[in-house]
Amino acid sequence: MAEMNSNPPLLSMSNISKSFGEVKVLSDVDFEVGRNEIIGLVGDNGAGKSTLIKLITGVHPPGSGEIYYKGEKITRHSVKRSRELGIETVYQERALADQQALWRNVFAGRELTYRFGFLRVNQQKAETTQLIREHMGFTSKAIHTDSMVLSLSGGEKQGVAIGRALYFEADLIILDEPTMGLSLSETRKVIDFVRHIKEQGKSAIFISHNIYYVYPVADRFVILDRGTIAGQFLKKDISQDELVDKMVLLARTGRLN
Ligand SMILES: Nc1ncnc2c1ncn2[C@@H]1O[C@H](COP(=O)(O)OP(=O)(O)O)[C@@H](O)[C@H]1O
Ligand SMILES: [Mg+2]
Repeated sequence: MAEMNSNPPLLSMSNISKSFGEVKVLSDVDFEVGRNEIIGLVGDNGAGKSTLIKLITGVHPPGSGEIYYKGEKITRHSVKRSRELGIETVYQERALADQQALWRNVFAGRELTYRFGFLRVNQQKAETTQLIREHMGFTSKAIHTDSMVLSLSGGEKQGVAIGRALYFEADLIILDEPTMGLSLSETRKVIDFVRHIKEQGKSAIFISHNIYYVYPVADRFVILDRGTIAGQFLKKDISQDELVDKMVLLARTGRLN
């Protein structure tokens, strides 16, 4: 039997490659997320960030390589399986059903029911109220459990998605360009949510092409460039300006130094 590491990283991917047809999108990627670690995954458009995420969330199978979650090798990966494992994803323009009340969205697909399948409506509403206060950090008094999703701002919708992930106790929350198309104040809210993930003791992968959003909240930066990991830096080893300089240099010369 393989020797078990008593405290393996939350997620570990090794030698990951992925092609779409003839096009190699990821090659030989080693990627790790620690417990209670926020990873800033950065890189140009087309670098392969979303593809890497989709391998983690079971949308695509890797072409080759291995994925371990909490030390256990994931085989027969699927979107459903990744959710069961405690991985939640917050996409840009998260698909929340606009015509539904907040509480219904929070529990969509995972409704609390009584033995015979009747919905526990009051409990779900009460839990949503608590969620709004404790996890979503909404300050607007106008938002309550019966609010229609339609009436929420883009940032608030992202907040629902993140709050839901925290409620269902996801250990790994993946945010793929969650601030795209949001106003500055909404963006700030999303960034606050990421901070909250850290405070809750959970981990996150935060993808943005805007380093100024990623830098303050991430513990470590992973730079993906044309399908390979170009470099990794702990925040304590690199300033925001240095990281920006490296990204600019990488885009211009294909090298980090
Ligand atoms: N389903 C797919 N089929 C074919 N090509 C894809 C698919 N998904 C992504 N790609 C290609 O893979 C490359 C990386 O894309 P992506 O992972 O979305 O990059 P990023 O998120 O870093 O912008 C791009 O060239 C993109 O066109
Ligand atoms: Mg992307």
